[in-house]
Amino acid sequence: MTLPTTTPASRRTALRGDLLDFVGAPEWGAVDSPAVRFRADHWLLIDGGRIAGTQPGAQPPDASWTVHDHRGRLILPGFVDTHVHSPQIDVIASYGTALLDWLETYTFPAEQRYADRSEAEAGAARFLDALLAHGTTSAVVFPTVHKHSADALFAAAQERGMRLITGKVLMDRHAPDGLRDDVDQAARDCVDLIGGWHGKDRLAYAVTVRFAPTSTAAQLAMAGRLCAAFPGVYMQTHLAENRDEVAWVCELFPEARSYLDVYERAGLLNARGVFAHGIWIDDADRAALRDAGAQIAHSPSSNLFLGSGLFGWRAAAAAGIHVSLASDVGGGTSLSMLRTLADAYKVQAMAGERLTAWKALHASTLGAAKALGLAREIGSLGVGCAADVCVWDWAVGPVAQRRIEVAQSLHERVFAWMTLGDERNLVASYVAGMKRYEGVLR
Ligand code: GUN
Ligand code: ZN
Repeated sequence: MTLPTTTPASRRTALRGDLLDFVGAPEWGAVDSPAVRFRADHWLLIDGGRIAGTQPGAQPPDASWTVHDHRGRLILPGFVDTHVHSPQIDVIASYGTALLDWLETYTFPAEQRYADRSEAEAGAARFLDALLAHGTTSAVVFPTVHKHSADALFAAAQERGMRLITGKVLMDRHAPDGLRDDVDQAARDCVDLIGGWHGKDRLAYAVTVRFAPTSTAAQLAMAGRLCAAFPGVYMQTHLAENRDEVAWVCELFPEARSYLDVYERAGLLNARGVFAHGIWIDDADRAALRDAGAQIAHSPSSNLFLGSGLFGWRAAAAAGIHVSLASDVGGGTSLSMLRTLADAYKVQAMAGERLTAWKALHASTLGAAKALGLAREIGSLGVGCAADVCVWDWAVGPVAQRRIEVAQSLHERVFAWMTLGDERNLVASYVAGMKRYEGVLR
């Protein structure tokens, strides 16, 4: 159930359980990794919305702390979903199309509904409550082209105390009526939104280019000028997701060397860039992404569902690119990052690679936070970080219970949790120390 936003936070809260987070980046393929910090049966101390420390379970905090004993449960940093579309809850699990048809048939009509401000506001609240009910406490989000859709998301995230990065979608061509803006109005809207929200509480603006085909060269250039004028803002877009899309970009921008080069020429490739997918890229693109310090938001559930392709994580990692994980709902079929991680494992298996639970969990917590320049605030249980934390059951149902019971090593246990778990395992979500979601099953 979603808790009322007015629930008063006890200043000092202590949660008892098995604490799992990362102190570095795990090596590829290492099931024993010094980057993993697992503290079985510990108290996590939360003071004033921040993590204040930890201590062994046998040593209870004094009476000044409100205690919640989750012995036998897992406590992790809240997940960070680096690419997700808030209005697309309405089209999740839509049958029978690949990317370009899917956009036209299902997605654009759903986004047209957000022309109505009250739809956008209701949708923003529904979406953020759903994220919290899946154990995701921070996200990088696409709303719609409508300025008020970004306002609504920022306001709803502010009410919930969440760390959220978003911005109005830029689209001035190849989109239906009601979903196109124009360069000058869009620029004014972005500047207003940046002034109104960027840097307020836990909010940040992202210049949000939907993808190269839906922006004219003039609009891309305007987006690049915004990034230059406001160096603290993020930039989010889609990159080389689907082969038909890549061919279309080649036709539309014949002067560009590659899809990524379209963005680079417009001044959109920088360390605050979040590029979703990046499946159909080459070594020169990988080098450019690495040199810029940009990240790829790998979206395995979406890539499988839309039949887009298998992301070359190993090649991206070898090139030194930051890779984070993303649900990409509604192309992806679940907001659950656990399901997303399980899909990521399967995508790598298809590519002949083995993704450890550590690598997957790191990419959806500390790794994502680092790629966003936010590692001091989110993604870990480190002292001083915001207390964005989730409590999970190790297993739900007899099969998962048995599997966890017979697991021999920590990696085996955590991998089984990641592969078999989903939002039903979630017991509670805390944002900056406030309980914002409590599971209904228990
Ligand atoms: N490319 C452009 N828009 C979209 C979108 O909404 N979802 C996905 N998966 N890819 C896109
Ligand atoms: Zn997307």
